[in-house]
Amino acid sequence: MNAAVVEEYGTPRYRAFEEPVAGEGQLVVEVEAAGLNPVDQAKAAGRFYSGRAPLPFVAGGEGAGIVAGGRRVYFDAPVAPFGSMADRSLVNAADAIDVPDGVEPALAVAVGIAGLAAWLPLAWRAQLQPGETVLVLGATGVVGCIAVQAAKLLGAARVVAAGRNEQALARAAALGADATVRLDASEGDDLTAAFREAAGGGVDVVIDPLWGEPAVAALGALGDGGRLIQIGQSAGATATFPSAIVRGKLAEIRGHTNFLAPHDVKVAAYRTLAEHAAAGRITVEIEAAPLSEVATVWERQQAGGHGKKLVLVP
Ligand SMILES: NC(=O)c1ccc[n+]([C@@H]2O[C@H](COP(=O)([O-])OP(=O)(O)OC[C@H]3O[C@@H](n4cnc5c(N)ncnc54)[C@H](OP(=O)(O)O)[C@@H]3O)[C@@H](O)[C@H]2O)c1
Repeated sequence: MNAAVVEEYGTPRYRAFEEPVAGEGQLVVEVEAAGLNPVDQAKAAGRFYSGRAPLPFVAGGEGAGIVAGGRRVYFDAPVAPFGSMADRSLVNAADAIDVPDGVEPALAVAVGIAGLAAWLPLAWRAQLQPGETVLVLGATGVVGCIAVQAAKLLGAARVVAAGRNEQALARAAALGADATVRLDASEGDDLTAAFREAAGGGVDVVIDPLWGEPAVAALGALGDGGRLIQIGQSAGATATFPSAIVRGKLAEIRGHTNFLAPHDVKVAAYRTLAEHAAAGRITVEIEAAPLSEVATVWERQQAGGHGKKLVLVP
């Protein structure tokens, strides 16, 4: 079969790779769509925090496809060295999630890792309550676009979308954000004030895929009992802030990774997301490309896709 193979840490190469063979309790998936996520690039570059995977391996942490019997499934934990960016992949049967009818493979992938990274921080980690205000940092990215829609569906009274790109922020507004804030228009206390003004007061929940300076400004904008859910570091690996920012209002910083969400929580969230997507309540801009073009698509993701979910089709 053909696959996007990481032979040395960096960009994968499209070439032949061994066929997966299902052991006990495993399934071979005929891949119909594979999602490209920042985590795939971190893993392929050998700089993911969980450590370096042995070479060679097939890139791709999530996919949608068909297993024996015609079942259509989504998976996000392929068995190494197999990955989702291949004609076929290998998964543990327990990790295969049924895809609801009416959800095409590319959409099934688009609401996967990115969808869960938007939904679980709000619904599970923050325990968002109806009527609360939500600030979405990085609202111009794929996770951010979904988080804006998810916050509304979960009952947020006011959703503020923050990002650097004007055009992509306009899309966040069209997707339901009540206000937008340009991250590159101000900094420090001024950015904090802009967040508070847009939120109409203290923010209850922040979804933070950025860390760095934007996260510090967002911490400053939290109201009493506010929660910042930390999911990524697109703006910086470190952040420096005075302790009073969190202490003085009983604020909390909670980490989130999809990898550590309990299986039942993840499956329930995925099915909810997929149903919202099938009904058009959650939309994701998708750009699909043939798997053979993986190297080009890899560069596009690195350059910033402004909210377009890049999907590879074997
Ligand atoms: N914890 C988890 O389980 C989990 C799961 C999925 C994703 N994530 C993380 O979430 C983040 C977003 O993922 P994604 O799929 O949405 O990626 P994406 O579509 O590439 O979006 C990246 C976002 O980060 C913004 N950004 C990049 N560099 C920035 C900087 N220096 N300053 C301010 N903003 C910056 C981009 O803004 P522009 O549009 O202006 O470029 C965009 O909004 C990534 O860090 C990813 O690793 C975590």
